[in-house]
Amino acid sequence: MSMNRPISSWQGRRVWLVGASSGIGAACAQLLAQQGARVAVSARRAEALAQLGLPDGSLMLPMDALRAEQWQQSLGRVVAAWGGIDLVLICHADYQPTRAWELQREVAQRMVDINLGSVYTGLATVLPQLLAQQCGGIGMIASVAGYFGMPNALTYAPMKAALINLAENLYLDLAPRGLGVYLICPGFVDTRLTRSNPFSMPALQTPAQAAQAILHGLQCGKFEIHFPKRFTWLMQLLRLLPFSWRSYLLQRRVNHA
Ligand SMILES: NC(=O)c1ccc[n+]([C@@H]2O[C@H](COP(=O)([O-])OP(=O)(O)OC[C@H]3O[C@@H](n4cnc5c(N)ncnc54)[C@H](OP(=O)(O)O)[C@@H]3O)[C@@H](O)[C@H]2O)c1
Repeated sequence: MSMNRPISSWQGRRVWLVGASSGIGAACAQLLAQQGARVAVSARRAEALAQLGLPDGSLMLPMDALRAEQWQQSLGRVVAAWGGIDLVLICHADYQPTRAWELQREVAQRMVDINLGSVYTGLATVLPQLLAQQCGGIGMIASVAGYFGMPNALTYAPMKAALINLAENLYLDLAPRGLGVYLICPGFVDTRLTRSNPFSMPALQTPAQAAQAILHGLQCGKFEIHFPKRFTWLMQLLRLLPFSWRSYLLQRRVNHA
């Protein structure tokens, strides 16, 4: 079902991607540019942004998502250059596999700050602009890791669960005002983020495959864009099970990994 207005063409669309120096965000930026969108890219590593090979006229906006004033400056540059914005894609995150006995306060705080706190900072920056325009949309990359509790994700998955809830909240408020809200829940994608995973990742995709699935979902106007379906349907089925059953299945998988 289309919960957002479908996007018939990317030609000329003004898209700002935060967390686009590598992985899924970078692949989305490259694919969007190939399809004619005007693309602005942000992340901390300016040199990696410059190496994306984006066409002339693209905006390179290096910034640290933890810094509110840098969000504001980057938005100011997008609006000054293009007069407005059609889509903001929040892609940035950090991840460290963590079991309960490995928990460190500083690492947990960093995960909360970057994976959730900075998303609120971004929303507080861009929502006034989108609301004033009365058009445009916002997408956030959460994860199937946010569907339910799972091993190795003690500090990461709860933040992704919060983003899923946050996206639903946003949709309820913003859809009646004509704004698009997109929740993106990938399965495993082969990026810098997942390379330290100490387990084999089922249905692993490339960033290019992930970008294809994301753009397709956006164009169809989906609210939740999840992929690859052969994995994410299974995760959605597991989510429906009572925790007693799910925990038994997850423990078995961990013990046999
Ligand atoms: N890979 C997967 O299997 C998978 C699965 C589900 C969901 N996801 C989600 O997909 C999104 C993209 O991750 P990825 O897998 O593509 O990993 P990635 O290649 O590590 O991309 C993460 C991006 O976030 C940026 N970033 C990190 N901290 C930042 C900060 N403080 N300020 C600004 N930018 C920052 C990084 O750039 P700089 O280091 O240059 O700042 C990088 O561009 C994340 O939200 C992740 O949680 C990934």
